[in-house]
Amino acid sequence: MQRNSFYNRDIVSIKDIDKQDLERVFSYTDKLRNFTPNEKTELGRGRVLGSVFYEPSTRTRMSFEAAMASLGGSSLGISDPKSSSIEKGESLADTIRIMDLYSDIVVLRHPLDGSSRFACELSRNPVINGGSGSEEHPTQAMLDLYTIIKEKRRIDGLNIGMIGDLKYGRTVYSLLYGLSYYDVKIHLISPVSLKIRMESLYEVKNKLRIQEHTTLEDILPKLDIIYVTRIQRERFPDLQEYENVKGSYVIDIEVLKKAKSDVSIMHPMPRMDEISQSVDNTTNAIYFKQAAYGKDLRAALLALILNENIS
Ligand code: NCD
Repeated sequence: MQRNSFYNRDIVSIKDIDKQDLERVFSYTDKLRNFTPNEKTELGRGRVLGSVFYEPSTRTRMSFEAAMASLGGSSLGISDPKSSSIEKGESLADTIRIMDLYSDIVVLRHPLDGSSRFACELSRNPVINGGSGSEEHPTQAMLDLYTIIKEKRRIDGLNIGMIGDLKYGRTVYSLLYGLSYYDVKIHLISPVSLKIRMESLYEVKNKLRIQEHTTLEDILPKLDIIYVTRIQRERFPDLQEYENVKGSYVIDIEVLKKAKSDVSIMHPMPRMDEISQSVDNTTNAIYFKQAAYGKDLRAALLALILNENIS
């Protein structure tokens, strides 16, 4: 059997993964979801996932750990830098080197852009970027794309609105790069001060049809998907700037009334007040499903990285 292209591979940026490989993860996710528990535990038995999280996380860390458990493996890690020697001043480099000794795959979340690329250079085992500054969050984009395929049956031809903090939200960047493999129309909706960063817009603007907006209203009736993001308070250099833009957009039942009846509302979560809880019980809300798909997709990705001869 041919060696699978994810075997032993680092996942730093969605840009390192071509469309064919992305679709390989999606089809393996489908396959794995139909495996029996015993078949799954063949894929990671005795293997260890090491998570190194310098920033808070609920879904990313827990879904990776749940995914590893479903494959028969185990997890250990740092979920709070304050409870590790990072608090004593230990460097990222030493922390990664040590985690590399105790595990078979490292998942890293760190506030600096470039942190995962740096970690790969130090680690013998594969490193997965679980969020690097406001740069990227590649596995979130993979699960976002997988969610779109499962819920909409296609990606091509969709009108996708991305709304909120497009400047600091790393999930937005990875998703945009991933969507650039498809034929979609993108509407970027944000306050002027939170517009997408210019260098990334340049990168994707030849591959995607993109329009920028400051209000949702006009474009709302055209959208098939609204990808809502949290204003990334922790990344603002000046909190006054945050105060000026917080609560800029709220998706509630009134907004849904003006949208397509089958519009899908996505969010990488955590959700603050940008999606009203009244939306949760509508069929349009797919953000909890999205989090569930995340565990399946991450299990598939871990299985592919750990096992040479599966596809
Ligand atoms: C996101 C992140 O950490 O970038 N969360 C996640 O992983 N689902 C989004 C956010 O924190 O707003």
